[in-house]
Amino acid sequence: MNIGIIGYGSMGKMITERIASSGKAPEKIFVANRSKEKLQNVPDGVIVCENNAKAAKNSDIVFLCVRPVDLKSVLSDIAPSLSADSFVVSLNGSITFDMLSKLFSGKLAKVIPSVTAEVDRSQTLVCYNEKTEEKDKQELETLLRTFGNVIELPENEVGMGSELVSCMPGFIASIFDVLCTSAKKHTSIPDDQVVKMVLQTMCATGELMLDKDMSFEDIVTRVATKGGITEEGTKVVYKGFPDTADLLFEKTLEKRRMTAEKAKKTFEED
Ligand SMILES: NC(=O)c1ccc[n+]([C@@H]2O[C@H](COP(=O)([O-])OP(=O)(O)OC[C@H]3O[C@@H](n4cnc5c(N)ncnc54)[C@H](OP(=O)(O)O)[C@@H]3O)[C@@H](O)[C@H]2O)c1
Repeated sequence: MNIGIIGYGSMGKMITERIASSGKAPEKIFVANRSKEKLQNVPDGVIVCENNAKAAKNSDIVFLCVRPVDLKSVLSDIAPSLSADSFVVSLNGSITFDMLSKLFSGKLAKVIPSVTAEVDRSQTLVCYNEKTEEKDKQELETLLRTFGNVIELPENEVGMGSELVSCMPGFIASIFDVLCTSAKKHTSIPDDQVVKMVLQTMCATGELMLDKDMSFEDIVTRVATKGGITEEGTKVVYKGFPDTADLLFEKTLEKRRMTAEKAKKTFEED
């Protein structure tokens, strides 16, 4: 099996590097990008194509790793080079299968990875159109599992799913940035040590919950004993933070709806 990666930006580069170094790399990996400078340092064995059509023509699975505004022109560009058996994978959550099918009526998937793929810990989301078969799903998921876990979602849940895996590293980083900034006001511990303590504890708390199948409530109950110091803090979080969390998802989901509307318009234009 050969794969093609079109768009060698943040996601295209990351996927190429993770798959190429996995030890389970497909026979050939073809890459193409609009600006050629980005293709100067691809991993050993990866084949650089002079245009998108060449990358698509040689590949069984074609990953479209371009921004929504460029997706229509890229798919139109490669459509004549695709066959009835080609499998096209879009990395964008906002462009629907209906829109993509106007340009390519074959097998389609959407894949939403997280930046945590860089440490092989992506919680990647995938969804398929009705043309894909079990064999296609298995082949794609084998590739995706080289950099983390895979969860399949229905198309109408990919938006909120993206908030939970693809946006979440940004949400988590900003929440813990606020916590650390506040902590630093109350201590002479050097800033970098404050951040390290919080990060190590944050990662280990996640591991503990996953390994021991514990809920958030289990952790809170275990640490925040009645009338103790931790409970003072967790009470503040449960009182003040829900409004912020509600506002966060209201804002991001609204922005997602607007992005999808804009993307739809670009697909409807001639
Ligand atoms: N970043 C994330 O965490 C993340 C997570 C999940 C999904 N996604 C989705 O993944 C997609 C890519 O995002 P990204 O962050 O990787 O964007 P990016 O860093 O801007 O990369 C996009 C790449 O596409 C190339 N490109 C644009 N038009 C092209 C064309 N006509 N032919 C060939 N290459 C072309 C660009 O080339 P130039 O060098 O010429 O600009 C650029 O290298 C988006 O749809 C995004 O929504 C991103």
